[in-house]
Amino acid sequence: MLRILKGNDYGDMSRIAANVIFAQITLKPDSVLGLATGSTPIGAYEQLIKYYEEGNLDFSHVTSVNLDEYRGLDDTSDQSYRYFMNKYLFDHVNINLEKTNVPDGKESDAARECLRYDNLIENLGGIDLQLLGLGNNGHIGFNEPGQVFEKGTHCVDLAESTIEANSRFFNSIDEVPTQAYTMGIGNIMSADKILIVVSGEGKADIVKEAFFGPITPQVPASILQLHKDVTLVGDEAALSKI
Ligand code: GLP
Repeated sequence: MLRILKGNDYGDMSRIAANVIFAQITLKPDSVLGLATGSTPIGAYEQLIKYYEEGNLDFSHVTSVNLDEYRGLDDTSDQSYRYFMNKYLFDHVNINLEKTNVPDGKESDAARECLRYDNLIENLGGIDLQLLGLGNNGHIGFNEPGQVFEKGTHCVDLAESTIEANSRFFNSIDEVPTQAYTMGIGNIMSADKILIVVSGEGKADIVKEAFFGPITPQVPASILQLHKDVTLVGDEAALSKI
């Protein structure tokens, strides 16, 4: 089932998304949250930090598992997704850092890291609420358009368009890693609930394609049409074509 919630602008949509996470943690304090990076969720994280600072939100029993990490980047690198999560959320709330999980970009043995991450998610009993952004080409996590939906955690070659899009965070495009570890479509689809955030007119076409077009691995997010509980939160611009 798809629920669509529209915010007037980025701030408004970020508050709506944060409130879904707020509700999840309130109802189940020991939730396993699947978390995401990218610029879109930053506003929601800021709002969650506010709720925490106001004394209304407690992360002490929460466990988190992040979607993805660049392969080859050390967790101290300021471009790593571990660094991002610490900077935009974990450093500002009372989450136990030992209960936060991000794929290990420095593990060079891909098969080993992917197996470790799949086992970790399984041992946690799965994900209660998975937060997602949406790549310009329809990717979720780093599940790039392809011939098949990959089920488990895997190592991917990033699409040229993704490397270009993400180069804005690096000094030059040559510094963007070409590979990443990402949860698979199966890991994501196994989550009890999914919350996907989209912002800006640049996402309007892909939002329409992903949620109202054919289900195809060429648009990885399209598989979300088969999930039982998806909340799509967007601003007016991103939802303007649906
Ligand atoms: C990256 C991340 C995705 C994210 C996407 C969109 O490639 N791996 O998880 O959803 O970018 O990012 P943004 O929200 O900045 O548009």
